[in-house]
Amino acid sequence: MGEKLTPQQQVTDYFNTWESRWGYRLLLKGTKHFGYYPEGSEQLSMSEALRLMEDELAQRLALDRGALVLDAGCGEGGTALHLAGNYGLRIQGIDLLDTSVAAANRKAKDLELDERVTFHTGDYMELTYAKGTFDGVYAMETLVHVADFGKAFQGFHRVLKAGSRLVLFEYSLLPREKMTSRQRAIVDLVIEEAALYSLPAFSHGQFPNLLSQAGFGDIAVENITPRVMPMLTKFYRFAYFPYQLIKFFGLQRQFVNATCAVEWYRDIIENDLWRYNIISASKPAEHFIREQ
Ligand SMILES: C[S@@+](CC[C@H](N)C(=O)[O-])C[C@H]1O[C@@H](n2cnc3c(N)ncnc32)[C@H](O)[C@@H]1O
Repeated sequence: MGEKLTPQQQVTDYFNTWESRWGYRLLLKGTKHFGYYPEGSEQLSMSEALRLMEDELAQRLALDRGALVLDAGCGEGGTALHLAGNYGLRIQGIDLLDTSVAAANRKAKDLELDERVTFHTGDYMELTYAKGTFDGVYAMETLVHVADFGKAFQGFHRVLKAGSRLVLFEYSLLPREKMTSRQRAIVDLVIEEAALYSLPAFSHGQFPNLLSQAGFGDIAVENITPRVMPMLTKFYRFAYFPYQLIKFFGLQRQFVNATCAVEWYRDIIENDLWRYNIISASKPAEHFIREQ
């Protein structure tokens, strides 16, 4: 019998599949997050929308130039480099994928941002930074992949300075009991193949409970699904015809991104199956922690 893969190995395998590597490269130039389309701006290019999403992050972090920030699950570093180049933040990025980290460091050097931004290979579940190192922490579409989000929250809380902010860009799902059996089957397939370990716990409306249990306060959750819908529509159209063949030959597990792009699309629009959220929360200030 084959050895059971760890969650980290499954995440790495998912991002190293042919479909993921080429899909992200061709469509998003290596960035792996959704774009932001302000109302009435559906015609924006993908890269304009990606940068606008990163501007949304900068606004939620609301930090001064020179502030030190952790990018948990940095991928190829597009977000960190945008924040460093345009907002003057100093950023430490960490990711499981050594190829992504190498690409991120190359880009930082090319853009002459390598003094302000550094990326390294590692697991953000095992942060070794001293307590209170960072003025801000963010995780852009990565927390769904961890097997123990409570442990990730504890780590983020520990490395944040008191009074500083955590910002998550994260998905949530319709509560399972409200899904039809068809929705459940396709959701389960995507969760399994894309290593989305925490997604079942991220039901709509759950983030405030989960974050307050981890000691965060001042929690805000914004459902911005309409602002990412134009990108979902592009992915749906791009994947629609290839997906008919994928489905015919029963290859959904091998092409999970195309499967998700087509199979979830109508249910997102009509049944609130999936949401895209911006979540911010603060580590309470020191005097408040002492009084608890
Ligand atoms: C959807 S991608 C997002 C990448 C990047 N934040 C972006 O916006 O382009 C998720 C990333 O999280 C990374 N990741 C998942 N779990 C991780 C962990 N425990 N530690 C470090 N990185 C992790 C994956 O390797 C992947 O690069």
